[in-house]
Amino acid sequence: MVQAHLEKNASLVKDWARGYESQVNEYSYWLDEVEGMIPLELQGTLFRNGAGRLEINGQKIGHPFDGDGMVCSIAFNQGRTYFKNRYVRTEGYRKEQAAGKILYRGFGTQKPGGWLANIFDTNFKNAANTNVIYWGDKLWAMWEGGHPYQLVPETLETIGEDSLNSLLEPNQPFSAHPKIINNHFVNFGVKGITSQTLTIFELDNLGNKLKQYSHPLTGFAFLHDMLVTDNYCIFMQHPFQVKGLPFLLGFKTIEQCFEFNPKQPTKIIVIARHGDHNLEILETEAFFGFHHGNAWEKDGKIYLESICSQSFPQTQQAELALEKTDFDHFPKGELWEFELDLAQKAVSRRKIETRGCEFPAVNPMWIGKEHRYLYMSACDSPTASGPLQAILKLDKGSGENQLWNPAPRGFAGEPIFVPRPHGIEEDDGWLISLVYDAAIHRSYVVILDAKDLDNVIAKLHLEHHIPHGFHGNWIPKVFV
Ligand SMILES: [Fe+2]
Repeated sequence: MVQAHLEKNASLVKDWARGYESQVNEYSYWLDEVEGMIPLELQGTLFRNGAGRLEINGQKIGHPFDGDGMVCSIAFNQGRTYFKNRYVRTEGYRKEQAAGKILYRGFGTQKPGGWLANIFDTNFKNAANTNVIYWGDKLWAMWEGGHPYQLVPETLETIGEDSLNSLLEPNQPFSAHPKIINNHFVNFGVKGITSQTLTIFELDNLGNKLKQYSHPLTGFAFLHDMLVTDNYCIFMQHPFQVKGLPFLLGFKTIEQCFEFNPKQPTKIIVIARHGDHNLEILETEAFFGFHHGNAWEKDGKIYLESICSQSFPQTQQAELALEKTDFDHFPKGELWEFELDLAQKAVSRRKIETRGCEFPAVNPMWIGKEHRYLYMSACDSPTASGPLQAILKLDKGSGENQLWNPAPRGFAGEPIFVPRPHGIEEDDGWLISLVYDAAIHRSYVVILDAKDLDNVIAKLHLEHHIPHGFHGNWIPKVFV
């Protein structure tokens, strides 16, 4: 029994790890291998970003977060789709490509050559690998520690780093998790490591600044995602310390210097979007999570969802070895709903989904509003930790969830909700995701009916694989 479990896990992890194999080629072609019919109403472009390669000329980088950003574009036009993928030509990409070796440290990456090669080097590469979004007639490849890179939406060619008309100072980060609410683009950046400042930027639909407000942070904050409502921006500050001396001296990566302290509370930072931009901090139990679902205000309280795990999934190995990942001991992310009472400074939370999940998404028209449905990538097992394989539709109204599951050898990435044009109901639209099929080492784009995940609208087969990625967005404009 134990042996069978270990063998099944070993082949699953091998399949999953192969999905991270670098894709060094850049393609442009019509997707002609199609199962099903692409709806004619589905007009626009899906952009998605992720680490395209986890090595440089055979030298392995240390963490998927440090892989060079490779943006995919899938343009839907009158029932046909055009695919392209292209690396973001960041300064780091160009220099490492020319040198043929790793030149930068990263979140979990050291330069080859031991501590002497790394000592006092705090210059990370902007990998431009985490998200890609179109706003104010610009397409941005985003990374949370630096400026966005602007791309040409039709060709994915790199224009260069964008300071947003000098809105961003040279060392001002602009995170990869903006939120769009009521046609406002809200994003944030955390500057500094030992002393940190959180700045929030709000832009209008042309990309012009509406507001900018800042607060100093207390303690170390690793803020990856944010939540927004009509009146508040909300962040989770998980209980980390960074004992950075081994990093400075070149012995460890910054990620290896993170210390998660389960005895300290998680702080929920609530910042008013209007007036004096007041900041309040509420406390709750310790947990870690990268991503949040949605937030809304109701009856004087704030509600939100967040994916919570009991600890931080820290890599300890000196060299990236994804095929050795032990999911039996990998912290599982579960979805919780929180209720915040600012007047009473009280937090309560309840678990609403025990299946391991990640990459939550809602109908973008419902951001900041009370919603019924949430879509996520999810584990095959309803209880155990594992790689992300399925797409889960959570129905908070009826409690009757749905799962589309390409396991055992398929691995679905983030589901992106595409609203049906002129649709009214919250789940009237499609879910689109890139799925890695380990059986043939190729990927496909799946289109699901968001109302009924059993209704697979179409599968569009790529001629190759695309490595497991991070985030993307749908734009109702065709860029071919
Ligand atoms: Fe993220």
